[in-house]
Amino acid sequence: MLDRYNRKINYLRISVTDRCNLRCHYCMPENDPCLLRHEDILSFEEIQQVVAVAVSLGIDKVRLTGGEPLVRKDIVDLVSMIAEVPGLQDLAMTTNATLLERFAMPLARAGLQRINISLDTVDPVKFREITRGGDIQQVFAGIRSAKKAGLEPVKVNCVIQGGPGEVDMEADALSVAGYCRENGLQVRFIPKMDLHTGQFGIVYGGTGGDCKQCNRLRLTSDGKMKPCLFSDLAFDIRSLGIQKAMEMALEAKPEKGTVNLSNCFHNIGG
Ligand code: 5AD
Ligand code: SF4
Repeated sequence: MLDRYNRKINYLRISVTDRCNLRCHYCMPENDPCLLRHEDILSFEEIQQVVAVAVSLGIDKVRLTGGEPLVRKDIVDLVSMIAEVPGLQDLAMTTNATLLERFAMPLARAGLQRINISLDTVDPVKFREITRGGDIQQVFAGIRSAKKAGLEPVKVNCVIQGGPGEVDMEADALSVAGYCRENGLQVRFIPKMDLHTGQFGIVYGGTGGDCKQCNRLRLTSDGKMKPCLFSDLAFDIRSLGIQKAMEMALEAKPEKGTVNLSNCFHNIGG
């Protein structure tokens, strides 16, 4: 699929839940996280159909995100259903890895190929602060388990912190870089973004944030096809039909991101 600016669109990011077991400051409000209603969340069958239509239109790479994808009930079954779709080349997931120790092997068996893990510091105390209560030992165990399961290359996403009163950006980024080097992990540094003010930047070591190179569409967990993270444009697959919603999203994909006042990171998947 080519969009109006001649960008080749072959990547679909699917948010499978807006729920998360952590509460990172930059992503999840502490209370009242404006959660979607359960009845609005797409079923596994609907998600599988979206992938089938997407592949028929030229998508060959799918990533599952959240919230936290591993808190979605029976996520391994969803991975198998997506992996069965003929023509899909690449199936990956972005996770906080806190539940990954027990899920890595079943996910790999179900057809998941690769995994990206969010990790902003390797300091247990700072990790607890950033995530409002997370246990970093679970993440380390999850990373070991992912390597053992062959979900490689394991990539680490590190959001660079900043701003007064926040944890020390350079020290944390450096500590994550060192940890990744020692453990054979690829690392990307993501500037902290703000959907509502339109603040975003290029991901160092990755592909996101560069509008000219953008190759993706997004699906929210309640079935809105979004052409751009930094835009309010959204096309409902249930009312329009999957193919029509995708075609409209492709057609409407803006040249550059601006602002997104309709979503929060936890319901659009970063
Ligand atoms: N800025 C940058 N990245 C973010 N993520 C969540 N919120 C933000 C933000 N405000 C990232 C997480 C994770 C992915 C799901 O989205 O770090 O890697
Ligand atoms: Fe959860 Fe990831 Fe958001 Fe943190 S960044 S609250 S781990 S979805």
